[in-house]
Amino acid sequence: MSDSTIESVLSEQRLFHPSEEFSQQAHIKSTEEYQQIYNRAQQDPESFWAELAEKELDWFEKWNQVLDWQPPFAKWFVGGKLNISYNCLDRHLKTWRRNKAALIWEGEPGDSRTYTYAQLHREVCQTANVLKQLGVQKGDRVGIYMPMIPEAAIAMLACARIGAAHTVVFGGFSAEALKDRLNDASAKLVITADGGWRKDAIVPLKDQVDKALANQSVPSVENVLVVQRTEQDVHMEAGRDHWWHDLKAGVSAHCPPEPTDSEDMLFILYTSGTTGKPKGVVHTTGGYNLYTHVTLKWAFDIQDTDVYWCTADVGWITGHSYIVYGPLSNGATTVMYEGAPRPSAPGCMWDIVEKYGVTIFYTAPTAIRAFIKMGEHHPKSRDLSSLRILGTVGEPINPEAWMWYYKVIGNSRCPIVDTWWQTETGGFMVTPLPGAIPTKPGSATLPFPGILADVVDLDGNQVATNEGGYLVVKYPWPGMMRTVYGDPDRFRRTYWEHIAPREGQYLYFAGDGARKDEDGYFWVMGRVDDVINIAGHRLGTMEVESALVSHPAVAEAAVVGRPDEMKGEEIVAFVTLEGDYSAGEELEKELKQHVAGEIGAIARPGAIRFSDALPKTRSGKIMRRLLRNLASGQDVSGDTSTLEDRSVLDKLREGS
Ligand code: PRX
Repeated sequence: MSDSTIESVLSEQRLFHPSEEFSQQAHIKSTEEYQQIYNRAQQDPESFWAELAEKELDWFEKWNQVLDWQPPFAKWFVGGKLNISYNCLDRHLKTWRRNKAALIWEGEPGDSRTYTYAQLHREVCQTANVLKQLGVQKGDRVGIYMPMIPEAAIAMLACARIGAAHTVVFGGFSAEALKDRLNDASAKLVITADGGWRKDAIVPLKDQVDKALANQSVPSVENVLVVQRTEQDVHMEAGRDHWWHDLKAGVSAHCPPEPTDSEDMLFILYTSGTTGKPKGVVHTTGGYNLYTHVTLKWAFDIQDTDVYWCTADVGWITGHSYIVYGPLSNGATTVMYEGAPRPSAPGCMWDIVEKYGVTIFYTAPTAIRAFIKMGEHHPKSRDLSSLRILGTVGEPINPEAWMWYYKVIGNSRCPIVDTWWQTETGGFMVTPLPGAIPTKPGSATLPFPGILADVVDLDGNQVATNEGGYLVVKYPWPGMMRTVYGDPDRFRRTYWEHIAPREGQYLYFAGDGARKDEDGYFWVMGRVDDVINIAGHRLGTMEVESALVSHPAVAEAAVVGRPDEMKGEEIVAFVTLEGDYSAGEELEKELKQHVAGEIGAIARPGAIRFSDALPKTRSGKIMRRLLRNLASGQDVSGDTSTLEDRSVLDKLREGS
């Protein structure tokens, strides 16, 4: 956050109460009710979650132990058997929801499709049978690299149905990034599309898959299943590549759900950390199903009449938990959109709200800032009266954007649900329950029942009211990640060792800084590690640095984030060059393109600053704090006593 944002957040005092009418119909109706549930859950989290698991999910076999906690490894509902695709589909077929819209999809060129629960069930069963035909078995990993089309959700659910774990790779990632993830997961099959529509252009997904798999560089992949979406010519490798529609033709729609164990892996989702290699975050079945179900139900107050739209991509955790699993497990209608606001369609989001009568709209601060820039005449010229709840996620929301969202989109009557959570947490952790918790612009408010969140110092001591500290969670919860795929040690190091365990209590370290105010409200201030948040997307500085040094011109690179009005943060890279290369605009362009090619367009640096040397400590560590301040134009004359060579800094400053 920029200094001015931090200041306005610190002075933010406004409190917004839900209307009485809203609270009365909500699942959780008052602060007192929330407090009561919270206290009960705090006293006995296990029985709290067990009761919900019994009430909200269908189980083939009941668990024999609610929680097995061998810090930092948790198992929930041990011995229980269920299938998340059954909970998302089959169980609704026995009710009136059978013919309710499960998935409403709006395509970028204006085409659309709606699947009822019965139709979605049929598609998932057929696809699951296709996966079986291709030799996919329980426990195998399947890569999914897709545009935002219904087949992405269908593929995920089909994997879940047969007990295979999916690993969805965001369609904006490069072939190189895709290859690394498929290799790390040893994926057996890749499901993709010929292309996807994005901002009036085709993203050539199949070409990227071909590049990723070239020269047997992902030896585990046996087959590629290709959905026809954009219909341009693509290469189909004989024996390896198959059209989705060919294999699905005439396939049985009967596919009994595999009774998976609570702790069977549901998916791996890669996310950036502080080292170069992205982490494979592992989520398992039972706890994740329960957690996404209950958090969505209470925080977005899901009712049967809702038309719920989350604008994320299925390639991120928000898409997994809150486009696919959470909404479908609740029997809700979930909207999926292939496109994004763009100059040629600045009002496209509001057209969709109007067209389908969307009641709950969930997006990111970066999108809200883009809407503000495009002008309020776009939302104002559409009928948005169907909306009743607005959500935000991905980065701290500045109070100005919050107020605009509240007034212009919500017409000052829709509660704003600011949800703080992470890929690792599986679902919402700190969030308002809209009928119960009054909101303050810029605050994610209070922890979800069962979540013992706090703000502490590095010794694990709670910090004073309004003092900054580290956001931690003091007790396991069902939706938590179980491990880093193939690297349990990294799991322990990354999340459980920053803050020393005290009296046997392990604290989950989220990597975010926060403070709690006098009402116990959380104000998340952003990352405290080497992770940058660009337009709500997480990137590790090391990841970008590795991409830069893989270019022959670059000798050394240091990457920092600087505040950006639209994207929240933007990448600034400081690089030193190999002897034969000289700095210049051409090379700057080339390096930006190189990073985009290595990781994906979201990682393209906003600026590259060439330098003869980087500022280092006497022990040779790059002083990122200095670079961060330099990048954002702040004073760097302060604490530079540990700097090895002051002249490096002086030169960098001259060049800025
Ligand atoms: O820094 C926090 C920020 O996003 C990080 C998690 O990123 P990711 O795993 O990609 O998941 C994003 C979607 C859940 C967090 O560590 N973040 C997420 N939501 C908020 C937020 N920061 C402030 N307020 C939020 N509501």
